[in-house]
Amino acid sequence: MRLPQPQFALQAALKTQDIEKFDALAIAVQKHEDGLHFDSNTFSQAVITRLNLDAQAIAKSWPDYAAKSGEILELPIDGLGKVSRLYLVGVGKSGREELRKAGASLGRKVKGNGFTTLVTTFSDGVSPALREGAIAFVAALSISHYGFEIKSAGAKQKRVDNIFTVSGALSQEVAKAQVLSDAIWDARDLIHTPSNIKNPEWMAQQAKALVKAANSSALTVSVKSGRQLAQFGGLRAVGNSAPVPGPRMIEVRYAPTGSKNLPHVVLVGKGITFDTGGISLKRPYDSMVAMKSDMAGSAAILAATCAMTKIKPKVRVTALMMCAENMVSGTAQRPSDVITQYGGTTVEVINTDAEGRLVLADGLAYADLELNPDYLIDVATLTGAASLGLGKQYAAMYTRDAKLAQILSEVGERTSERVWQMPLVDDYAPALESDVADLVHTADKVKFSAGSVTAALFLEQFVGDRRWVHLDIAGPSRSDVDSGEYIKGGTAFGARLLIEWLASFA
Ligand code: BES
Ligand code: MN
Ligand code: ZN
Repeated sequence: MRLPQPQFALQAALKTQDIEKFDALAIAVQKHEDGLHFDSNTFSQAVITRLNLDAQAIAKSWPDYAAKSGEILELPIDGLGKVSRLYLVGVGKSGREELRKAGASLGRKVKGNGFTTLVTTFSDGVSPALREGAIAFVAALSISHYGFEIKSAGAKQKRVDNIFTVSGALSQEVAKAQVLSDAIWDARDLIHTPSNIKNPEWMAQQAKALVKAANSSALTVSVKSGRQLAQFGGLRAVGNSAPVPGPRMIEVRYAPTGSKNLPHVVLVGKGITFDTGGISLKRPYDSMVAMKSDMAGSAAILAATCAMTKIKPKVRVTALMMCAENMVSGTAQRPSDVITQYGGTTVEVINTDAEGRLVLADGLAYADLELNPDYLIDVATLTGAASLGLGKQYAAMYTRDAKLAQILSEVGERTSERVWQMPLVDDYAPALESDVADLVHTADKVKFSAGSVTAALFLEQFVGDRRWVHLDIAGPSRSDVDSGEYIKGGTAFGARLLIEWLASFA
């Protein structure tokens, strides 16, 4: 279960004398050559005056404090109403990424202490650049709070909600940050849920619950299972390894009235609720532990699609969550099986651990053949090879559309969900040749390596002439450490990138 999510209070009629009603105050600090500088906005100034703060004295008492972004000095306060803490929050030069770091750091610092905190980190006259920074700061403040535990009543730690009030004329930025962080919280809940709870049917129930909670007639959901999946040979081959409850294709649509002629974006998400590797059992065995998050792509597209009801861009979105469990069992597929994907392409299965591309191929082909998408984007924890190349900070992006690649790269920088374009190397096309079927699904490692590229080339076979982007998020989908906005475990990478990109259809 998720730990308490911080709330953001409205600050419509906040007066400077109200500062003493908060438990804590946070003000931004920069360090220049001539010493420490507090932000000069009205509320920071009020705090400084009321507390008689002297930047020089503070610099002298804490000579090591450099006010680097995210560096926080926590000072106990006495004699200002309810206020017991002052956080001096280093913001570097107040660049967007520095503010993101600062927000994450403050979020971690106060996590679970139940404070109401007045955050006065932004100047009164906010420039457009600083508005971007404010969104990053506030989103990070919330996202860094994320926590998930399933503990017995006795072992539960007491944690209480934090409530933040952000001073300044930033209500739109706070609202936007909340949309982004809500999506991350929702997606992370799905990703962090253990796989003995989360099977494909559970995913369908969660999708229905999120759609219901969005409370908008523009958002609908339908689920295909059993015989309705007769033509989805990839989803069945993988998912029938766990016949109870079996695979699901969950289709979530955002289509407000009058949207018939708007651009249609179809998102396809890998939704493997656990990846044992199947008969080609994953090795080393320890690497399996992380595979409860092999549905992270599905979680991200679901959260992004639900967020559309709050942003209301001029676009139609269909999310296809391709959900299956990849199990070792008597009904599991075998290396050497030949399956028929949606649309009729036959595929020789060599390694049952390359299951992601099989379920995605059905989704992509279904989108191409039935949904007439203007944009087709898939998001998947697809290959370890992607993270070998790029590490955990960037997703591997594959597309033939240079303009779209540039746009997504830019949006990725802005949302801190960064993507790096990789080449679809046509010379590797022979890697997909099979002796028995139309295609083989895994390339011969010795001849080709480039596992992330050949996986992308396989997917490309199913997208027709669509404007298509493949995001291999195997690297950034999980964090090994508690750091910045990320906690150890699932990050929900992709949700913010998609929301921000879809929001640009204005
Ligand atoms: N889910 C894994 C990929 C993965 C690995 C995601 C590590 C996150 C972290 C995927 O299903 C898989 O097993 N891929 C194989 C493909 C190979 C058998 C061609 C891989 O990357 O080793
Ligand atoms: Mn696998
Ligand atoms: Zn997988």
